[in-house]
Amino acid sequence: MSSIPPTRPFAELHVHLRGTISHAVAMSLAQRYGVTSSDIATNKEFTFGGFDDFLHKYHLVGELVRGAQDYALVCHSYLARVARSNTRYVELMVSPDHALDAGVTYAELLRALEPAIRDCEAKYGIACRLIVTAVRHRGPEAAEALARLVVATASTLVVGFGMCGNERVNTPSAFRSAFSLARQGGLKTTCHVGELCDAAHIREALDVLQVDRLGHAIRSVGDDGLLREIASRKIVVEVCPTSNVRLGLVASFNVHPVFQMLAAGVKVSVNTDDPAFMATTMEDEFANLRAAGMTEEFVAECVGNGWLGAFDPAAAKAAQSRLPPP
Ligand code: ADE
Ligand code: ZN
Repeated sequence: MSSIPPTRPFAELHVHLRGTISHAVAMSLAQRYGVTSSDIATNKEFTFGGFDDFLHKYHLVGELVRGAQDYALVCHSYLARVARSNTRYVELMVSPDHALDAGVTYAELLRALEPAIRDCEAKYGIACRLIVTAVRHRGPEAAEALARLVVATASTLVVGFGMCGNERVNTPSAFRSAFSLARQGGLKTTCHVGELCDAAHIREALDVLQVDRLGHAIRSVGDDGLLREIASRKIVVEVCPTSNVRLGLVASFNVHPVFQMLAAGVKVSVNTDDPAFMATTMEDEFANLRAAGMTEEFVAECVGNGWLGAFDPAAAKAAQSRLPPP
């Protein structure tokens, strides 16, 4: 029998705001802007081939978010939805460079997101904090400019600086100065690394970028020295099993590197990455991991690591005991 109560609360550390855009919200935005992209409209679910096709479709859907009010809608709709599950704390990745493409400045973006976040916390008890996330394939200068902007702009909701995007473009070291600025500006840091590329990128993220957490890092498996180092430094790793499987980066849940990472003592947290695109929830993630043989002890450990790795421990602690809305 499971030792984990079904209502155990989750903290989720790795979710992209763009990846939360539900098919229904995407359709309503497409209608508002007169977009008739068959890529977006043909299915009730988003479909994609490998990683490059995913990034392409993801971009198409992301481009539907055009005004500050759209950002507020996407954020509010996601938090209101996820608050009905067992998730009580979320760190949401937002990329102001995408917003600026649509003419929304960083200040306007924050002015749109903050009331949505506060409203969902007041109404549904869910706490949300933001990780401003550079887009790797936009290059180091863009990341550095973003780090400067974030550090210069006060916001109690922004707790971290991260980087997503195509890992095959630009090595982590190229972003040394962006991450250094963010760190010196008081932000915690995380970086997508070792998702598509090998362990060398993970080492660079640790040694050069000096990140507090690692995003994905599934390619650490096979490098025992690196696994030992991640474990001994107690770095929380944001693992996203369904995303890895659906993007074809891992053959199945049964052979997911998470099992070897846990066996090596790595502090694994479990996350959905892009829940709408990957058609997953935190509950689904753990159901799939259990079906693949994850023990209840490791389930409990992964859930605990979500709380342990939170960049705003006080907000996480306050949210942990709140019950979902009736
Ligand atoms: N942006 C959204 N999802 C991503 C992923 N899995 N890897 C890199 N960048 C992303
Ligand atoms: Zn991600």
